[in-house]
Amino acid sequence: MTHSRKARITASILAADFSRLGEQIHDAEAAGADAISIDVMDGHFVPPITFGADVASAVRGCTSLPLDAHLMVSNPEAHVEAFAEAGVETIIVHVETTPHLHKIVQDMRDLGVRPGVTLNPGTPLSTLDVILPEVDQVQIMSVNPGWGGQSFIPSALDRIRQLRASLDAIDSPAVLQVDGGVNVKTIAAVVDAGAELLVAGSAVFNDRQTVAEAMAQLRQAMPRT
Ligand code: DX5
Repeated sequence: MTHSRKARITASILAADFSRLGEQIHDAEAAGADAISIDVMDGHFVPPITFGADVASAVRGCTSLPLDAHLMVSNPEAHVEAFAEAGVETIIVHVETTPHLHKIVQDMRDLGVRPGVTLNPGTPLSTLDVILPEVDQVQIMSVNPGWGGQSFIPSALDRIRQLRASLDAIDSPAVLQVDGGVNVKTIAAVVDAGAELLVAGSAVFNDRQTVAEAMAQLRQAMPRT
């Protein structure tokens, strides 16, 4: 059975103006963002360093929107409890960062967090096969992790379609999320390929338009479902 769901947008604060992060989050919520994404980077799995659990906790205090923490970190086992305590609803870990993927998914559930997994553009989708039935969210990276504002990798569309088919084949309720280069030019193809939750950073937070204008343009560019 194909799960027909209206596509949703999660605003990635990676592209926000950090000098007024609370205001930017309020603007995103007011503009109709469905969730807020927190891109956590440790300077080891990916070169940049971004946010820790304390910032996630501050974001929690700014909005009632669901939060997801995308852990682009080595040894994610050391961090899930702190982000669960910070109040994020979903934690997404990279399959490349742990030999204990099944255990960390169990640990997230035990902490009351929705477990999610994601993988780099160069990692075979088959690495998800065993864990797919166990998770609530699966994210396709359509850029290489580490930076916002990158160009969408076109081959990600086929991976989205393959993952959509895999989830439907096991009748999984897991949410199919796509992260990277989602903007007014790419959003329709991403949704048509089967994505339900779209991470948008630089398409939402930029100096060309207000957050409200940016979100309206993204919604306008979505396929009519
Ligand atoms: C990469 C990040 C980005 C971010 C979205 O590590 O995960 O993909 O969330 O950035 P944009 O929407 O600017 O590509």
